[in-house]
Amino acid sequence: MSNNKGFASDNHSGVHPDILKAIESANIGHATAYGDDEYTERAIKKFKEHFGNNVDAYFVYNGTAANILGLKNITDSFNSIICAETAHLNVHECCGPEKFTGCKLITIPTIDGKLTIDKIRPHIVGLGDPHRAQPKVISITQPTELGTVYTPKEIKELTDFSHKNGMLVHMDGARLCNAVVSLDVGMKDITGDVGVDILSFGGTKNGMMLGESVVFFNKKLSKNFVFIRKQGMQLASKMRFISAQFEAFLSNDLWLKNARHANRMARLLYKEVKDIPQIKIKQKVETNAVFATIPKKYIVPLQREYFFHVFNEQTSEVRWMCSFDTNKEDIMKFSEIISRTIV
Ligand SMILES: Cc1ncc(COP(=O)(O)O)c(C=O)c1O
Repeated sequence: MSNNKGFASDNHSGVHPDILKAIESANIGHATAYGDDEYTERAIKKFKEHFGNNVDAYFVYNGTAANILGLKNITDSFNSIICAETAHLNVHECCGPEKFTGCKLITIPTIDGKLTIDKIRPHIVGLGDPHRAQPKVISITQPTELGTVYTPKEIKELTDFSHKNGMLVHMDGARLCNAVVSLDVGMKDITGDVGVDILSFGGTKNGMMLGESVVFFNKKLSKNFVFIRKQGMQLASKMRFISAQFEAFLSNDLWLKNARHANRMARLLYKEVKDIPQIKIKQKVETNAVFATIPKKYIVPLQREYFFHVFNEQTSEVRWMCSFDTNKEDIMKFSEIISRTIV
């Protein structure tokens, strides 16, 4: 792989060789289109192994579609969806959630990307009032867009609260594997077993070429999803090539090894830069990203060496994200450049 790696996103990484092998192995002869094939059957079995026998899982091309179509499936256009202000849903989906669901997004400011009952409660109002949007879904991101993680207990509190109020919980798990590693739990322990109703589960950021999924923990909720997915233009005709990737991803701990490595690289980067006086790291480094506030004047010179994104222009906070293919040498070189530049 080329040495021009950066720290912009785990999306910038390549494809894990085992995934490429899986794609190649699926490239034999013909297979029935649209998911009625043996690769998809085997991949779904893997989902059941990890998330429980009762789940229904569906594959889509990308994470935005997993979020939007999943939410569309469980809402009516008079509903509202509550999420953190920083949620991908709110910031990076080009008001797709609003367009496709018709719902109002209620966005809540947080310090660490995490919603709490106290922050949500004031928004559960106007139930039954035809003049008001009806709250239906709490959407949380695990890990959050700030790299922090919800503990199983925190998730359970939110799902209990949500269900008591007649609402559902959606989890954006585009990087769920990184949270699973961070918490040292199983996939089920922070999803279905703690009351999550519907999950967007990602593979692209952790070594796959493309392919995300929508996982339903309650079959009643998935009833119409095949239609919603098709209407939403996300039914892959050559589905076997997404399925083969998921099968490999969820076999032999590939997902776990990749996420564990990415998380370790972020810890190492944190360790190397945390004592530089002009750098402030306000978010806990719990997964594969380091959020650092650095003086503005150093951003462009550093980006020239290793590209990364500015997370917040106002506060001059940047995001350094590690991938399954970030190596120790990348971290040591980058941190050496940082400490040489920020003096
Ligand atoms: C938290 C989160 N959710 C969802 C997505 C959606 O991914 P995609 O770009 O595949 O639509 C991303 C992508 O960066 C993300 O960071």
